[in-house]
Amino acid sequence: MNFIVEPSALKSGTVSVPGDKSISHRALMLGAIAEGRTSVSGFLPGEDCLASLAALQAMGVSINQSSATDLVIEGTGENGLSAPAQVLDMGNSGTAMRLFAGLLAGQPFPSQLTGDASLNNRPMQRVIKPLSMMGASIQSNDGKPPLVIRGQPLHGLVYSMPVASAQVKSAILLAGLYADGEVVVHQPAVTRDHTERMLSTMGVELRAGETQIIMRGGQRPRGTDIQVPADLSSAAFVILAALLSSEAEVTITGVGVNQTRTGVIEILQSMGADIGIANVRLYGEEPVADLTVRSSSLHGVTVSPAKVSLAIDEFPVLFIAAACAEGKTTFSGIRELRVKESDRIAAMAEGLRALSVAVDETEDGAVVHGGRLYGGKVNSHGDHRIAMSFAVAGTVAEWAVRIEDTAAVGTSFPGFVDSMRSLGVNIETEQGQGAVPAS
Ligand code: S3P
Repeated sequence: MNFIVEPSALKSGTVSVPGDKSISHRALMLGAIAEGRTSVSGFLPGEDCLASLAALQAMGVSINQSSATDLVIEGTGENGLSAPAQVLDMGNSGTAMRLFAGLLAGQPFPSQLTGDASLNNRPMQRVIKPLSMMGASIQSNDGKPPLVIRGQPLHGLVYSMPVASAQVKSAILLAGLYADGEVVVHQPAVTRDHTERMLSTMGVELRAGETQIIMRGGQRPRGTDIQVPADLSSAAFVILAALLSSEAEVTITGVGVNQTRTGVIEILQSMGADIGIANVRLYGEEPVADLTVRSSSLHGVTVSPAKVSLAIDEFPVLFIAAACAEGKTTFSGIRELRVKESDRIAAMAEGLRALSVAVDETEDGAVVHGGRLYGGKVNSHGDHRIAMSFAVAGTVAEWAVRIEDTAAVGTSFPGFVDSMRSLGVNIETEQGQGAVPAS
């Protein structure tokens, strides 16, 4: 599928965006192993989370979906998960693959995890290493998927993560629920803490500080009601479209504003963005708010590496913000972007250059020279966030932007096209292969 976005006049109004992907994955996994029933509302029915849901059903978990966003999970509790009869397909989702690796490492049965071409090219050694130190047996294809896991008795671990990764931290904590002994995880920078918060909501005792998380092994979560906030990572596209518009005021309701995720708001505000945060409340232990965004003139900044892990998924959209800002914006310390769903530094530099924006790419960052965006053709490299970022760029380019290979948008933001249209964005879709041939 391709998107064709024409320059658009945005309308003011109120929109909602789908549920948080990270929290939806965790609700499924923790609900599945909990003692008792878990009801989930606001679930993200994106392909990534549906892959996790199908994997749990393949392990005997009863999940009743009364609507796309509402489900009831019967926790397997002390009966436990059952051995899957087939290979578990994680689709495009690194979160699913890495968190399931942790969850399955201590089960009394073997399992195999695979994914699509993008996922099967992503590094898994970062979870294999600490899980093996806990006693797990995991074979990989030279550090990449597929993973063959032979469930083993696990023991505790003290581990300093070499990269700041919520996925690695969460894999260790999930494995820790099946370990004999304590797990202690040190992180080099604060990463999203949804696992810790949800574990605590479900009665698991742990001590979570900024740099260190300590959890006694062998605890079992208790089923609960989980209301999933709207995903700030999806809201980010709406936020930027509204900021770049000439006179819109857009409110996005019930958005997760957990401070381990709000780097994108802080970075945009430092660039001159007018983003109001109101009606802050809690969904369980997760803070949410209504965000009101008004058209703003942005200026270039130097983005502090300290913000990177707090905005890790929002750099594609921040590159577009930088391209539309006055002056230059410098990003550094973002090497991790090279091993996301695509090499996001390279994909954004390539796409922005195709729209005539000057970008100096470095090994761990980029300098984006703000200016006018022309129209043109951009390859999303099958990466949902690259595709949606360039769709936003298309609203303010001089003429149409054609974004190719956009089907993956359904992994995180089903209804993206309709949401953008409701805001007045002139976006069309076109079926077909549409990947730009490699030159
Ligand atoms: C996620 C953590 C982040 C993020 C990903 C979702 C999670 O990855 O990029 O989209 O749900 O834990 P890392 O923890 O590897 O940085």
